[in-house]
Amino acid sequence: MSVVVPVELGARRYQVQIGSFTPEAVAEILTTAFGPTVTGLALLVDGGLAARAPRLAPLVAALGARLPGVERFELLAGEACKSLTEIERTVEWMASRGYDRRGAVVGIGGGAATDHAGFVAAIYLRGIPFATLPTTLLAMVDASVGGKTGVDLQAGKNLVGAFHQPRAVVADLAFLATLPARERTAGLAEVIKCGFIADPEILDLLESSGPELSAELTLDLITRAVRVKAEVVAADETEGGRRAILNFGHTIGHALEAASGYELLHGEAVALGMVAALDLGAAMGIGPPELAARARALMGRLGLPTDAARRLDAGVLARLSVDKKRRGNQIRFVFCPAAGQTRLVDVGAADLVARVLAKA
Ligand SMILES: NC(=O)c1ccc[n+]([C@@H]2O[C@H](COP(=O)([O-])OP(=O)(O)OC[C@H]3O[C@@H](n4cnc5c(N)ncnc54)[C@H](O)[C@@H]3O)[C@@H](O)[C@H]2O)c1
Repeated sequence: MSVVVPVELGARRYQVQIGSFTPEAVAEILTTAFGPTVTGLALLVDGGLAARAPRLAPLVAALGARLPGVERFELLAGEACKSLTEIERTVEWMASRGYDRRGAVVGIGGGAATDHAGFVAAIYLRGIPFATLPTTLLAMVDASVGGKTGVDLQAGKNLVGAFHQPRAVVADLAFLATLPARERTAGLAEVIKCGFIADPEILDLLESSGPELSAELTLDLITRAVRVKAEVVAADETEGGRRAILNFGHTIGHALEAASGYELLHGEAVALGMVAALDLGAAMGIGPPELAARARALMGRLGLPTDAARRLDAGVLARLSVDKKRRGNQIRFVFCPAAGQTRLVDVGAADLVARVLAKA
């Protein structure tokens, strides 16, 4: 059971394959994607996976048996791998192992590992091919599409990076079996975001499902979310216009995430940011209050936090004025006037803070 979603960005195109795969099938997909010119493959693996995901060992064995010059390198687990120091450790290792321009990278792990691997592929020898095997729900639905790669600085998240498109992405759903429930639920927030901005059937499907999502529904939801993101980034690869809609829930979400010292997972912060954006839209006459109520009910039932008003104070909102997406004093804020629709409104940062606080 698998689905292929094509991603087309100008002349470049690749496929996101989502479903249940044997390790040999994953190896076959990568062999085809890289082609015969690739003669050495660096598997950059999230350091937390070996102990937690039994799926990893057979996969690595199959890749080693089917692909040329396979070697494995352990990254630090999760976000800790997203630093320039860790990038240096990886590229020094690649150089010491003799990877040349016929080499390629495969990132295996959550969004942190795949962002790290993509950035290594973007800069090593000025760019070599890469593919990703995302192992978290968030990495499958979000980090897998769009070609953003990079790492964090002390000054903030994702401040250094490059656009570099993968040759292939294989989202092997077997990995989700070992993902901690909190991580899985947080990943659902990005799926729900895709429902609000473009595919309202996602919301209907989640509302009519029980708390445990069946394998079939999980496949359907991931496919829908990947399609939404693929469609949006194909229309706007470098964030000039339409891609801004993907920031729904993120402007306030990022502020909450940073203010929590990253105690909140990204998806949890986005859930709160979506509730706040829908509340604000209702207060400004841009959307109906029922939509905010719908978001609260759905996300609350799934175990996502929705008490945005309680958490928003002037200290949190001060962070809006250092938002990366800000232009001058204006923030391009994404509103959702109806399920599946968006409206971008340039709001003055101070005005936005005042309006959110008035609502809170
Ligand atoms: N490039 C993009 O477009 C894009 C989009 C969204 C997010 N991101 C980035 O993705 C990162 C967040 O990704 P994430 O939510 O996947 O978190 P993560 O990569 O930090 O992984 C979370 C934790 O889950 C563990 N893990 C991963 N897969 C597992 C599995 N199958 N079983 C058990 N444990 C597993 C990891 O070891 C880690 O401890 C952030 O750095 C964010 O900036 C990038």
